[in-house]
Amino acid sequence: MKLEINKMQLSDLEQISDKLQQEFDDFWTPNILKQELENKNKLNSYYIVAKQNHEIVGFAGIIKVIDEIHIMNIVVKKDKRNKGIGSDLLKEIINISTKLQSKAITLEVNENNEPAIKLYKKYGFNQVGLRKKYYNNTDNAILMTLTVKKS
Ligand SMILES: CC(C)(COP(=O)(O)OP(=O)(O)OC[C@H]1O[C@@H](n2cnc3c(N)ncnc32)[C@H](O)[C@@H]1OP(=O)(O)O)[C@@H](O)C(=O)NCCC(=O)NCCS
Repeated sequence: MKLEINKMQLSDLEQISDKLQQEFDDFWTPNILKQELENKNKLNSYYIVAKQNHEIVGFAGIIKVIDEIHIMNIVVKKDKRNKGIGSDLLKEIINISTKLQSKAITLEVNENNEPAIKLYKKYGFNQVGLRKKYYNNTDNAILMTLTVKKS
């Protein structure tokens, strides 16, 4: 089924804000996402949303820090996983990073999050570090990075 990826609007967030935890398993609260979209905190952040037949099936957020892009989150609706949507979101992030002439894309991922680690490795991300007890003072975070090719 055709997937459309666009910049996330506040109206998109309204569609999913009461489903974020249950259907997307996302750890961000609607309020934080709303602030990000309204850019109240003046961060250089950018959200994209993936839709199939007008249904929101995934989204991702990035932040530009000098010449690097940091992936804040990438989430696919639970019942739509393993169908390539996460890959399409990640490919779009890589495209955006190329257009912005960023040198690298960085991220942190829970070392127990096998699907996400495999997704990132599939697109060429490498582990560059480890943050001990980064999540809830328990789980370690793997730091990964991808060098962005020049367009
Ligand atoms: C991580 C996530 C975004 C992947 O999205 P997805 O749409 O299921 O991913 P894709 O279908 O594009 O799969 C791409 C690759 O990821 C890996 N992968 C995806 N799901 C997997 C699973 N359940 N187990 C192992 N590997 C998996 C595979 O390598 C896969 O490539 P392959 O199909 O060629 O084997 C999704 O699982 C998710 O939303 N997880 C919860 C939120 C999260 O943890 N985000 C990451 C925060 S850092």
